[in-house]
Amino acid sequence: MPLVTTTEMFKKAYDGGYAIGAFNVNNMEIVQGITEAAQELKAPLILQVSKGARAYANHTYLVKLVEAAVIECPDIPIALHLDHGPDFETCKSCIDGGFTSVMIDASSKPFQENIEITKQVVEYAHDHGVVVEAELGTLAGIEDDVKVAAHAASYTRPEEVEEFVTKTGCDSLAIAIGTSHGAYKFTAAQCTRNEKGILVPPPLRFDVLEEVSKRLPGFPIVLHGSSSVPQEFVKLINENGGNMPDAVGIPEEQLRHAAELSVCKINIDSDLRLAMTATIRQHFAEHPADFDPRQYLKPARAAIKAMVAHKIVDVLGCDHKA
Ligand code: G3H
Ligand code: 13P
Ligand code: ZN
Repeated sequence: MPLVTTTEMFKKAYDGGYAIGAFNVNNMEIVQGITEAAQELKAPLILQVSKGARAYANHTYLVKLVEAAVIECPDIPIALHLDHGPDFETCKSCIDGGFTSVMIDASSKPFQENIEITKQVVEYAHDHGVVVEAELGTLAGIEDDVKVAAHAASYTRPEEVEEFVTKTGCDSLAIAIGTSHGAYKFTAAQCTRNEKGILVPPPLRFDVLEEVSKRLPGFPIVLHGSSSVPQEFVKLINENGGNMPDAVGIPEEQLRHAAELSVCKINIDSDLRLAMTATIRQHFAEHPADFDPRQYLKPARAAIKAMVAHKIVDVLGCDHKA
């Protein structure tokens, strides 16, 4: 089937109490690892591309890689989404260039300005059969060149969501309930430690999510910054020459719970990076003479596939929902 929008996926996910995984893609091995897992598990899928990914790999290469995946995965619906579109021009370029979904992220702007920019993108996107994700509230962490310190992050204000969605006409809404971008989602001071010395982060604000959902019944909610930073990858990285002390993510059971509620899209990028980096570091430590990129990219791709399969089944709950 051709690339699809997220409309049908989100409706089924909302009603079925599961979420769709939105995984960031930057090269061929990442696209292959993700899509092979989704195809085998018959899971609907969102492949997303950031501004940084377009700068790194080039828009055309990424679109063609995703189109190749669509051919190789005939049994599952795949949407191609712009992640964190910074402005109208970037969204327009992706809409004109074959994407089926875009995010306009004007969440750092004042409320009225966020409404105006989002509305402009929605009008253009809907005229072209493309759906729009918008954001209210500010996540901590790093995305492209924007770095938001934990103290500057703010939870979504539920009292603003109805006006925002009604005035903009957006199709889904990313909210801030305590997730954060990157592999260091919380400082050690924000966490407690378990008996093994592993950091345990503060729980997500499910009260905010529930308040938002009450005001927007049936409306798909998106969670960014939802990597769990698996400690086995962090350990492998640190044991093989890396230096990632106190990397910490969102516990998977909390994401599973969010997926059962109104959250229909869960964004994962850092866990892909960790799986790939851990595998490549381990490979070089064990095979120091290897220099053919296929020798280390093959296990890296397999690690991505295994990690995505685990997310689909145990976190998102979207296996066999295609
Ligand atoms: O939310 C940010 C995503 O992880 C994309 O990261 O901007 O480095 O491609 P990037
Ligand atoms: P992570 O850094 O938690 O993987 O979040 C990715 C994301 O939100 C992409 O938009
Ligand atoms: Zn994000």
